This record gives sequence, C-alpha cells and structure tokens, in this order.
Amino acid sequence: MNEPLMIPLIMTTEEDILVLLKKVKYPGFSRDIVSFGLVTDVSFTDGYAKIKVEVSGEDSTLPNTIKTGIQKVLEEAPSVKKHDIQVIFKQDKKGNTQNEKNNLAGVKRIIAIASGKGGVGKSTVTANLACALSRQSGDNGKPFSVGVMDCDLYGPSIPLQLGISEQPTALEENLLEPVENYGIKVMSMGLLVDEETPVVWRGPMVMKTIQQFASNVAWGDLDYLLIDLPPGTGDAQLSLAQILPLDGVVIVTTPQKAAVDVARRGARMFSKVNVPILGVIENMSYLLNESTGEKSFLFGQGGGPLTAQKLETVFLGEIPLVEEVRQGADHGIPTVIGNPQGRASQSLANIAEEIVNIVPVGGQ
Ligand SMILES: Nc1ncnc2c1ncn2[C@@H]1O[C@H](COP(=O)(O)OP(=O)(O)OP(=O)(O)O)[C@@H](O)[C@H]1O
Ligand SMILES: [Mg+2]
Repeated sequence: MNEPLMIPLIMTTEEDILVLLKKVKYPGFSRDIVSFGLVTDVSFTDGYAKIKVEVSGEDSTLPNTIKTGIQKVLEEAPSVKKHDIQVIFKQDKKGNTQNEKNNLAGVKRIIAIASGKGGVGKSTVTANLACALSRQSGDNGKPFSVGVMDCDLYGPSIPLQLGISEQPTALEENLLEPVENYGIKVMSMGLLVDEETPVVWRGPMVMKTIQQFASNVAWGDLDYLLIDLPPGTGDAQLSLAQILPLDGVVIVTTPQKAAVDVARRGARMFSKVNVPILGVIENMSYLLNESTGEKSFLFGQGGGPLTAQKLETVFLGEIPLVEEVRQGADHGIPTVIGNPQGRASQSLANIAEEIVNIVPVGGQ
C-alpha cells in the first residue's frame, strides 16, 4: 500500500509538487495530507512554490507539525528555490477529536461498498455481506463481529433490509448506541429521522453527519464495519474517504458492458484519494430458474470481470438475480439468513470469504 513515491528530479508543475506533498503524512495516520484532501491550493512558478493547506482538529500543534513536514520535503527538492506555506487551522471544540478516535478504535477493518450507477444492489449486497461475514469465524474460531454504517443519507435503506425500525438509544450526551439485529450493529439516518421528513442536505452537512456517525456512535469492538454508500461520486464518497480510515472499497456493478465506464468512474475517485479497491462484485448476473438450473442473461454478460480487469483488481464473484433476494430485502430478512442454502446466499458467502482473505483481521 505504501509503495515508494517517485519524486521527479526536475520539477516544473503543480502536479510535481503534489507528488512531493504526498510524502507528508497526516500526524497519527498512515495516509498523507494530499489524499486526505487537505491541500486546497498549489502553485509553482520559477522555482517558487505556494501551498495552502486547510486542517481542522483539536490539537493546536497540528498546523505546525504539518508545516514542518511540508518544509522538509520541499527542502529535499532542488528545483524549489523559495516557498510559501499557509496552513489554515480551524480548531474543533474539545472532545470531538478524542471521540472520533475512540469510537472507531475498536474497529479492525472498515470497508465501503460503492458503485457508479444507482440501483445496482449496493445496499442489498451490504446487508447480506454483513450477515455472511458474521456467520464466518476468525482463526480463533469466534464468529466475526460486524457493523453497518449507512451513509446513504438521502435514501437510507439498510434499516429496512436488516429489519430494524427502533430508534437508537443515547448512552450519554453525544453518544448513540447502534441498533442491532441478526447480530449486526447498525447506524443509519433512517433510524434518526421519520419517513415523512424530507432530508435536504448540502455538502458540509453530509460531511458533518458522517463525522458524527464515526465519532458519536458507540461501535465498540468490531471485526468488520461495512459502509453503504449512495451511488456516484458525490459529497458522501469524498467525505468518507477523508474522515474514515478505510481499508478499501468494494465496487458493485451489473453485467452490462455499458455500465463498465460508470463503475470505473465511481471507483477512480477512491484511487485518487489512495483508498485501495479490494475487488468488484457483479450483482444481478443472471436470472436463475431454480427448478431447471437454466440461466438467462437478462442484462448481458461480462461487465463485472471486465470492470475488475480495467481497475486492475480482483473479481470477487457474481450474485444471481433471484426473487427471494428482493423479497428478503423488502421484508427485513436478508437472503443469507432466510435461505442460507440458496444460490445467491452461497455466492455471498464465497464473496465474504474472499474479502476476509484480502483484508483479514487476525485471530486475537
Ligand atoms: N440479486 C438480486 N436479486 C433480486 N433482486 C435484487 C438483487 N439485488 C438487488 N435487488 C433488488 O434491486 C433493488 C435495488 O437494490 P438496492 O436498493 O440494494 O440497490 P442500491 O444500489 O443500494 O440502490 P441505490 O443506488 O438507490 O442506493 C431492490 O429492490 C433490491 O431488492
Ligand atoms: Mg442503496
């Protein structure tokens, strides 16, 4: 993941400066300030580099640490004769940063489920994968503990899919307990606003809410936290990549070849911010006649493997289009729970196993 960055010897462009800035890690994290989206302006003319960085946090030493880090990498570059580094710091109220760290500190792996197009089955896949993961065990023989953070703030569907409707209880001021069903811990906007309330969000609100989902929810100890995302490459995706220490993203797509480019576009945003693409799942691959075993390829064929190939990542598997999957989703009984022996459930179990192999949690 941390392959050495190639530093151009003779730098001429802003891009070169950005490559250099990628060597500066955000204090306490393995990710760098560029991938966190903190570098808001860069210019480089005649050996004069001007850099603007915006950070927020509780720790007032943060701006200086970052500035020193930047100075150090710039000094290593002979073509930078002069520099001007501006670090704008917005200090958070006491407590925020602390909570943020604490409440995800017990989570071993955080994986986002994303797609380019809407309606490809991300939420269905997320809910079922969560159940499939919780039916598997680590090296110590204990079943994995799993949570789902529903970051589709406009159209949350995880509560319905996992059969949850109760509101989360507040453990203390600013700390909610996730609601649990099938052993999966869930937090979703759908549990916090009633169905009639229209949710109108703007960028900063999306960011703030996701931050709160990370910092003001008592996630406790989890092996895997899955993140259900809205479609596309909007604010939620960017905020997420900036706020949460993601281990990677799984892309869900359908078999149409025409959808390959949309899926790739959705995925590219994650690569840009250094979030690894763990693999591609093809959903609704074929309609299965359960009695004859005959497959009908309603949406064409090959989109999933082709997307994986173009993204240079793993093809994790295909999930058939089966009525019981839709019914399960509508009735709050994921197919992995309702019919574990079904074809779709078997695929989902295999995919979960693949994911565990790619991002293991160890046996402690
Ligand atoms: N393999 C499948 N077989 C049958 N129905 C499916 C399958 N996967 C998803 N569906 C159904 O397709 C619809 C869309 O699925 P879902 O809501 O999971 O998609 P999504 O990608 O999360 O959508 P959005 O982009 O709106 O968040 C749902 O009605 C769901 O039950
Ligand atoms: Mg969804």
